[in-house]
Amino acid sequence: MSERPYVIDQMISAKAIAARIEALSREIEAEFAGTNKLVVVGLLRGSFVFIADLVRELDLPIEVDFLEASSYGDAMESSREVRILKDLRGAIEGRDVLVVEDIIDTGHTMHHISALMASRAPARLRTIALLDKPTRREVEVKADWTGFEIPDEFVVGYGIDYAQRNRNLPFIGKVRFT
Ligand code: IMP
Ligand code: MG
Repeated sequence: MSERPYVIDQMISAKAIAARIEALSREIEAEFAGTNKLVVVGLLRGSFVFIADLVRELDLPIEVDFLEASSYGDAMESSREVRILKDLRGAIEGRDVLVVEDIIDTGHTMHHISALMASRAPARLRTIALLDKPTRREVEVKADWTGFEIPDEFVVGYGIDYAQRNRNLPFIGKVRFT
């Protein structure tokens, strides 16, 4: 846990997140209309709240699976090296796959995970990120759906942590050191 004191300023309200997820869900339903082989893949741990709200808004027959990639640890900077800590339980060959990420920052995580998923020959591969910090990009990657583009701020809440804390906040806030 960080020693530096900080406060959290709300950036995106719970209500705004819910409204955005509702709108995105209609687009995702249109994209996957008629499929009965969709697997929604959540990237642990940051996407757990987002995927929980997203799948309950989706009127589609789906399965849910999870993948854990190495993260920042307790630091605020990306290690740029992505390792798989926990792989999917199920095979995705021939399946429709929607990868759900909390934030795209430098892009290394999404780039690596997309390539890994693609190497398993899914029928269709799509990605969604709740948040995107486009100004931080080091590798070119763009999710098929993005909840909100945000400036280069360190954010927490709605599943997203700083040193493992604040995942349980119902809104997205930015960390401000005091
Ligand atoms: P990337 O590989 O640099 O794109 O980083 C993606 C991962 O870094 C996300 O899945 C988050 O876990 C983490 N991350 C990026 N920005 C933030 C932030 O502002 N707050 C907390 N975690 C973040
Ligand atoms: Mg993450």
